[in-house]
Amino acid sequence: MAKLADKVAIVTGAGRGIGRGIALRLAKDGAHVVVASRSAATVNKVVEEIKTAGMSAIGSTVDVGSDAQVKSMVAQTVATFGAVDILINVAQSWGSPGRHALSPPETPFEDISDEEWDYTFATGFKGTLHGMRAVLPFMKSQRHGRIVNFGSPMALAGKPYMAPYNATKEAIRSLSLTAAHELGAYGITVNCILPGILTDALADNLKDPSQREAFMKKLPMGHLGDPEHDAGGLIAFLVSDDASYFTGGTLILDGGAAH
Ligand SMILES: NC(=O)c1ccc[n+]([C@@H]2O[C@H](COP(=O)([O-])OP(=O)(O)OC[C@H]3O[C@@H](n4cnc5c(N)ncnc54)[C@H](OP(=O)(O)O)[C@@H]3O)[C@@H](O)[C@H]2O)c1
Repeated sequence: MAKLADKVAIVTGAGRGIGRGIALRLAKDGAHVVVASRSAATVNKVVEEIKTAGMSAIGSTVDVGSDAQVKSMVAQTVATFGAVDILINVAQSWGSPGRHALSPPETPFEDISDEEWDYTFATGFKGTLHGMRAVLPFMKSQRHGRIVNFGSPMALAGKPYMAPYNATKEAIRSLSLTAAHELGAYGITVNCILPGILTDALADNLKDPSQREAFMKKLPMGHLGDPEHDAGGLIAFLVSDDASYFTGGTLILDGGAAH
């Protein structure tokens, strides 16, 4: 029997990159997957990919910065599949609405507008909080749940000129730890991943050749991780019954680069 057979998983930010990789992997492991992201076109594409391979998925076009939209996504999930067992909060934006770059803009923190601070927190920290709040009534009543959130190794290191991104990612990590303490008694685990995985966003952040070369030299594994195999593989373990005693963890999934 597939490891996640009949589990119901919501993956936000699943339109591309790491979220897409996780959605594909959880579906392969037998979960019913809700592909949740901001752009209908990418959501539909990933749902189609999963269904064409004979696996189970529905799409939800959602802005995680909106509490109401997230609540309605979770209600739709439960109405369709009867439960929600797994929440993976991957979605994150930066810049400002209508000025979204592929990777976070690099600006001294004192020159960053309130609009940019607010947008980064709304889509990252608040998006994660909205998702957790919306699934908790269901997870608490079934006394079982798995929540995985996404921080960043760059935030942990305080990479210069990315203050709103770093701050929202560390706020997510802090919330994950607190929530793990509060939710353990309900059989709900909460963990936080700090990835270094090859996506268009990371490639954009490393587009300067000398910066890219320096970054690659620091990778003990000699290569960047793959969204489906490396991120999806670890998440599939974390949300399985085998990881029921693992909570409050910060896992740096970057091939050892941060050490
Ligand atoms: N790649 C890395 O190595 C790395 C390193 C450090 C941290 N991270 C973190 O890991 C996560 C995934 O990274 P990634 O490289 O896969 O990112 P990505 O390629 O930028 O993908 C982000 C996804 O989230 C969606 N999204 C953004 N804002 C949203 C919102 N408000 N509501 C719903 N969906 C939204 C995007 O939709 P659109 O397609 O519409 O933009 C996109 O599908 C992020 O949290 C990122 O900060 C990644």
